[in-house]
Amino acid sequence: MEDEVLTEIPVRYNRIKDDTERLSFQMNSDLFTGSLLKTLVASKKSSRILELGTGGGLATSWILDGMDQQAKLLTIENNAALWEIAKEQLTDPRIEFLLVDGYKWLKDYQGEKFDLIFADAMPGKYDLFEETIHLLKAGGFYVIDDMLPQPNWPPGHAEKADAFIKILESRRDLILTKLKWSTGIIIAVKK
Ligand SMILES: C[S@@+](CC[C@H](N)C(=O)[O-])C[C@H]1O[C@@H](n2cnc3c(N)ncnc32)[C@H](O)[C@@H]1O
Repeated sequence: MEDEVLTEIPVRYNRIKDDTERLSFQMNSDLFTGSLLKTLVASKKSSRILELGTGGGLATSWILDGMDQQAKLLTIENNAALWEIAKEQLTDPRIEFLLVDGYKWLKDYQGEKFDLIFADAMPGKYDLFEETIHLLKAGGFYVIDDMLPQPNWPPGHAEKADAFIKILESRRDLILTKLKWSTGIIIAVKK
């Protein structure tokens, strides 16, 4: 098996990659993470999906490709230039692009819970984790990437990642799989 062979890359993928590279943005999710997200999203019908940290929309483009016509995606970003790229490239009535601070949004949100949360920013992952997992439905997926050492990790981040993994492992309400694949993925399902 060759896992590098990825089929059906989202049509907007290369445009988003070029546009974000022009901004010197180096935190794009990779192809493997995108493909996994698409697969997980496709398992949920009429789903509600939350992405924390849209970036320029690379993972968003994969998530969109896994969604059925009834699914809805709410994706959150605080950088206006990246938000513009994602919004422009991925115009679709099933996606709501919010330009807000994820910390504030997580503290204020009172709406419906989600079937899948891709937590790809500090809020939702290393910060406000309790608030985030509260927003996941039973049977829902919580997905994070970048859990293996990355070249752009600042000093002290490895310790932070280890401590967060221990928190996840200690949770009795989550079923966890850790994958030493892609950039290091953890998939948790809420009991
Ligand atoms: C790892 S990148 C996301 C990459 C993106 N998911 C992709 O597929 O390319 C993290 C993103 O979170 C955003 N971010 C950081 N802090 C934030 C905050 N407080 N609220 C909202 N977004 C935030 C950053 O601007 C950045 O675009």
